[in-house]
Amino acid sequence: MVDLDFKYKELSKILEKEAPFKPDISLVLGSGLGDFADRLDKLKTISTTSLPGYPPSTIPGHEGKLHFCKYGNKNVLVFQGRIHFYEGYNLSQCILPVFITNKLGTKKIFLTNAAGGVNLDFSSGDLMLITSFNGINIKKELTDLIGITNINSKLNYFDFPTKSFNDIIRTAAKNKNLSLKEGVYWYNKGPTYETPAEIKMTGLLGGDAVGMSTVHEAVFAAQLGMETASVSLITNMAAGISKNKISHKEVTETANMVKVKFESLVKEILELI
Ligand code: HPA
Repeated sequence: MVDLDFKYKELSKILEKEAPFKPDISLVLGSGLGDFADRLDKLKTISTTSLPGYPPSTIPGHEGKLHFCKYGNKNVLVFQGRIHFYEGYNLSQCILPVFITNKLGTKKIFLTNAAGGVNLDFSSGDLMLITSFNGINIKKELTDLIGITNINSKLNYFDFPTKSFNDIIRTAAKNKNLSLKEGVYWYNKGPTYETPAEIKMTGLLGGDAVGMSTVHEAVFAAQLGMETASVSLITNMAAGISKNKISHKEVTETANMVKVKFESLVKEILELI
C-alpha cells in the first residue's frame, strides 16, 4: 500500500498555499465534458503540470487543469481532465482528484464520465445516474491502493454512491425537466473498447453502461468518508449493439451535442447542494 500523504507531500503543500477557497464540492469532468469548466466563473486555474507527482494527461479532451470556480455563492473545484488507468498510470495516481479534494477539506465529490450504453432502453445522448458499480475487474489494484482491510473493520464495506446525494441529482433532473436514466456502471480496464461478446456478458450480468473510469475514484472517496455521486453520459451504444465502430471521436462528438443538457443538470445540482 502506497503512503499517499508522503508521496504527494510537495503537491499538497503547493495546493494548500495556492487554493483561494475551501471548495463546497468538487467536480470531475469526464471525456468530452471538459467544456463545462468554461460555464462557471473561474477565480483561479492551476495547470496540473505545475503539481509535482500529477501525471500528464495523454487523452484528447482531457485538459489537465484544476479550476477554482464560483457558481452563485458556491465554491466549486473543477477537474478538467481525469487520469485513467489505461494511460499506464497506477491507481495511486488515478485517484489524485479525490486525494486533492479531501486535502482541501471538501467532503463532496461529483464524478462524471462518458460511457457506452448496454441497457437496450438507453440511447446515445442519455444521462444515467449511477446507482451501483461493478468494479470486479479492478479489485486487485484496489487492494494495492487502499490496502488489505480487516474483515471485521468498518472500512471493509463502503456505502456508495451516497443515497442522499443521488436524491439531489434526481431532484435536479426533475426541476429541469430532464430525463435521467439510472443504472449500474460496469468498469472495464481498457485500453480497448469491449468486444461484442464482452458486452453481451455485461448485459446478462446486470451492467447498464460500460466505461473505463470512476469506480476507483468512488471507492477511494468512500474510504476517505466522502460523499459521492456519479453520472454517466451515454455517448454511444456499446460494441455489438451499436452498428458504428466505437471511437473516441464519436464519444466526444456526442458529448458536445448534449452539453447544454449536461450543463443544465450540473448547474441545478450546484444550486441544490
Ligand atoms: N466502452 C467503454 N468506455 C466508453 C465507451 C464504451 O463503449 N464509451 C465511452 N466510454
